[in-house]
Amino acid sequence: MDTFTIRREAEADIPAIRGLTSRAFVDKPYSRQREAEIVEKLRDTDALTLSFMAVKGPAVVGHIAVSPVGISDGTANWYAVGPISVAPERQGEGIGSLILERALTELRGMGAGGVVAVGDATFLERFGFEDVPGLVWPGMDPQFVRALALADAAVPAGTILYHEAFSR
Ligand SMILES: CC(C)(COP(=O)(O)OP(=O)(O)OC[C@H]1O[C@@H](n2cnc3c(N)ncnc32)[C@H](O)[C@@H]1OP(=O)(O)O)[C@@H](O)C(=O)NCCC(=O)NCCS
Repeated sequence: MDTFTIRREAEADIPAIRGLTSRAFVDKPYSRQREAEIVEKLRDTDALTLSFMAVKGPAVVGHIAVSPVGISDGTANWYAVGPISVAPERQGEGIGSLILERALTELRGMGAGGVVAVGDATFLERFGFEDVPGLVWPGMDPQFVRALALADAAVPAGTILYHEAFSR
């Protein structure tokens, strides 16, 4: 496999992250092509807990955003993982796996209780994400919603109170 560097975003990377995120979600059934805007709103409201990029030379080929979420049952310390974006011409090379693993390692180090994600269920389930019918992402088809307990023993039940950046 080709080698990529994973690092945190810097201010100068913001336009490249915007471009990459816009390109990655074209034609995805769980997308309304708002992901680039979501990342920017999270950043602008200090809710972008983690922002990692995969870089190959000068090119940004992958990006992952992490933001805090609430759960209606009162469970604290959970996060939304995503948008996760890999450049269309570089998908299937392991980049998405690398950036997701990096984010999960960081979240485990932070003592995060767990994470939720919206997107490609087949991809997410490779990392232990589960279909949890009792945990609801309002307005999203449940087939695209997955959750993974980290420090917590189990995935909670309830409604996910995601950041307003994800609102439609
Ligand atoms: C989904 C996405 C992040 C995966 O990143 P990626 O770099 O393409 O994935 P990887 O190369 O790390 O794939 C890891 C494994 O998952 C598999 N996989 C990746 N995407 C898949 C898909 N859509 N359906 C089935 N399997 C998939 C790969 O075949 C690979 O399997 P292998 O190790 O047996 O070869 C990327 O394709 C992407 O940006 N998609 C568009 C945006 C998107 O849907 N984001 C939401 C992500 S939840």
